[in-house]
Amino acid sequence: MGKLEGRSIVVTGAARGIGSGVARRLGAEGAGVVVADLNGAGAEATAESIRGAGGNAVGIACDVGDRTSVRSALELAAGEFGRLDVLFNNAGISKTQHFMEVTEDDYNRIMRVNGLGVLFGIQEATEIFRAQGGGGKIVNTASIAGKEGFPLFPAYCASKAAVVSLTQSAARDLAGDGVTVNAFCPGVVTTELWDQLDQESRDVGETETEGQLIGEFSEGILLGRASTPEDIAGLCVFLASGDSDYITGQAINVDGGMLVH
Ligand SMILES: NC(=O)c1ccc[n+]([C@@H]2O[C@H](COP(=O)([O-])OP(=O)(O)OC[C@H]3O[C@@H](n4cnc5c(N)ncnc54)[C@H](O)[C@@H]3O)[C@@H](O)[C@H]2O)c1
Repeated sequence: MGKLEGRSIVVTGAARGIGSGVARRLGAEGAGVVVADLNGAGAEATAESIRGAGGNAVGIACDVGDRTSVRSALELAAGEFGRLDVLFNNAGISKTQHFMEVTEDDYNRIMRVNGLGVLFGIQEATEIFRAQGGGGKIVNTASIAGKEGFPLFPAYCASKAAVVSLTQSAARDLAGDGVTVNAFCPGVVTTELWDQLDQESRDVGETETEGQLIGEFSEGILLGRASTPEDIAGLCVFLASGDSDYITGQAINVDGGMLVH
């Protein structure tokens, strides 16, 4: 018997990376999973791998910056699995750039996905939770970059601080509906996102060799290595389960000890 047997969960940004690893673990724990991603084929591939392992999942193309699209993904969960129990607002984008190079377009593009996408997700999931009579869980993917600013990711850090803040405000406002809202803050997770960030870092002349950026970022990790999506998934199972029912408004580090506050 899995820890999430019978739960209905939507994970955004789950075609690859952290979202895919988390969605597969949630599926293995017995949850019905809607895998939502801008990359619809990738979402279906993650769903297929969950089904191949004996789980229950469907994929859907979804742009978290579009409210209607978010609503469709959430309604799919209610349609497929009878209700919605948990939403993981995980989709996110970043860009490596110096502070003085951030353009209005960079800022708006990153904020639209990382910030506005989380706002839409919380609001649309709560509409469904209320229609179901209350209760429900929202788990947002923030970052240690939401707790400290880093010089090479100004817009990203601002967007993740927004995720932490939205988590706190929503937790306070929605507690009366029985809805808990939490976030988790990864440090360095080896996903394809880092291939892009590493290339951009070389493009702006900050690093020279392939892999140098992630290597430098990983140097201070107390547990001595960068993480994998699987390292993150255990906390996500906990946050999706009844074991976390008395926790709300928190942004929990899962970073191997990069930050100790
Ligand atoms: N990798 C890390 O070190 C790290 C650290 C801290 C936080 N995070 C956060 O974790 C989350 C996942 O990161 P990742 O490393 O797996 O990234 P990734 O780039 O490997 O995967 C992100 C996924 O989100 C999808 N996506 C992008 N824009 C979308 C949109 N508008 N709507 C729906 N889906 C969209 C992409 O198609 C992709 O499948 C992000 O929020 C990221 O900011 C990552």
